[in-house]
Amino acid sequence: IAALDAEARRILQLNDKGGYTVPTAGLYPYQWNWDSAFAALGFATFDIDRAWREIETLFSGQWDNGMVPHILFHVMDEGYFPSYDTWGTADAVGRGACTLPSSGISQPPVAASLAWEVYRANPAAGDGRLRALYPKLLAYHRWIMDARAETGAVVITHPWEAGRDNAPDWDEAMAGIDPAGVQPYTRRDTGHVDARMRPTKDDYDRYIWLVQFGRDRKWDDSQIAAESPFRVADPTMTFTALRSTRDLALMADLVGEDRTEIDGWIARLEEGARGLWNPETRSYDAINLRTGNRAGSVSNAGFLAWWGGLRDERALPVLRDVLDRSTYAVPSYDPAGPQFDSLRYWRGPVWAVMNFMVGNGLAEAGQAELAARVRGDTARMIADHGFAEYFDPLDGTPAGGGTFTWTAAVWLAWAS
Ligand code: DGY
Repeated sequence: IAALDAEARRILQLNDKGGYTVPTAGLYPYQWNWDSAFAALGFATFDIDRAWREIETLFSGQWDNGMVPHILFHVMDEGYFPSYDTWGTADAVGRGACTLPSSGISQPPVAASLAWEVYRANPAAGDGRLRALYPKLLAYHRWIMDARAETGAVVITHPWEAGRDNAPDWDEAMAGIDPAGVQPYTRRDTGHVDARMRPTKDDYDRYIWLVQFGRDRKWDDSQIAAESPFRVADPTMTFTALRSTRDLALMADLVGEDRTEIDGWIARLEEGARGLWNPETRSYDAINLRTGNRAGSVSNAGFLAWWGGLRDERALPVLRDVLDRSTYAVPSYDPAGPQFDSLRYWRGPVWAVMNFMVGNGLAEAGQAELAARVRGDTARMIADHGFAEYFDPLDGTPAGGGTFTWTAAVWLAWAS
C-alpha cells in the first residue's frame, strides 16, 4: 500500500504543470475540467494548497456566461487534436473578457462536489478559498440550468461534454449526423494509444463535425440548442449536476448566502433525473431529444443515481446482474449488451472516477455490501494492473493512457 501511495503521489506530481495537472502526458496535454477536479481531490490528501490551486486554475478559464470549458489550452501542444484553432472560440458568444484559450463545451460538473470534499479535508485551510470560489460555482450552475437543462435533465451538445465520448448512449444521435462536410483532419490520439482502445473513425468524423457546427455558430448556446442534430439528455451530466447542486446548497449555508435559487435547481434536476428512468432496461439512461428515444443502454452513468441522491432501489437488481458479469466493478456498459467492447473506451471498460461516485453514492444510500464491492474492486484493479486510464472489466487489462492523474487521485482519496 505504501508503495502504491507513493507512486500515486509521484503521478500527480509528474502531471503537475504548475497550477494545473494534465490527465496524462502525450494523449491529453492540457487541463481538462472534470479530470482537474479529481486531481484536486487527490492533492487534498497530501497538499491542500495545491488542491485549491488546481480548482482555482480551472475557474480562471470560466467564461463570462458562467460556462467552465472542458479543455483549457494553457500551453499549445502539437501532439493533440483538435487544437485551440479548430475550436475557434476566440470570438465565442458568452466568452466575454476571459482570454484563456479553451474549447467551446463543458464537462460533467463535478467541481462543486469535489471542492466540497477538498474543503472538508481541511476546513481551516479552505474557508477563505471556498468563499472566493462560491460565486464562480454559482455562475457555473446558473449557466448549466439556463443553457443545458431545458428538460430538467442536463443535456449534452457533444459526446465530449458527457466525458463518455463513445458511449452507446449516443449511437442513435450520432447516426443522425451526416459528417460529409467535415474538413480533413489528422487524429493524434491513435498515435499515443492502441486504436482498438479508442473511438472509431466514424465517431471522430462526427466529433469534428460537431466542433465545426459549434464554431460556425460562435458557440452560441441558444442557436446550437435550436439547430444541432445532436442534443441528448445525459445521466452523467444530470446526476453529477444534481449532486454538485446539493453540495452548492451546503456551501451557501456555510458562507451565509440565500439558497432559494439553488433549491429550485435541485427540484428541477431531480424531476429531470427521474425522467431518465427507463422501465424497459430498469436503469437510467440517455434520451435523444431530437427523436424522444431512450438509448436502452445499461451504463455506469445510470448507476450514478445514488451519487445524485436519488434513493431508488429499483436499479439495484440490474446493478447486481452487471456486477455478476464482471470481474471488476463497474463496467461502463453492460457486458451482456450488444455494443459491449471490453477495451474500447466507454463501451465496456471500468473507470476509477466513475467507481468513486457510484461507490460513494451506494454507501450513502445504505447499500454497504455493493459499495464495498465497488471500492474493493477499484483497489484490486489498480493494485494489480497499475494507474491506467481505464481497465477491461473482465480481466483488468490496463487500457488507454498510463500514469493517469485521476486514477492516482481516486486511489489516494478513496480506494487505498
Ligand atoms: C479526447 O480527446 O479524447 C477527449 O476525450 C476529448 O475531451
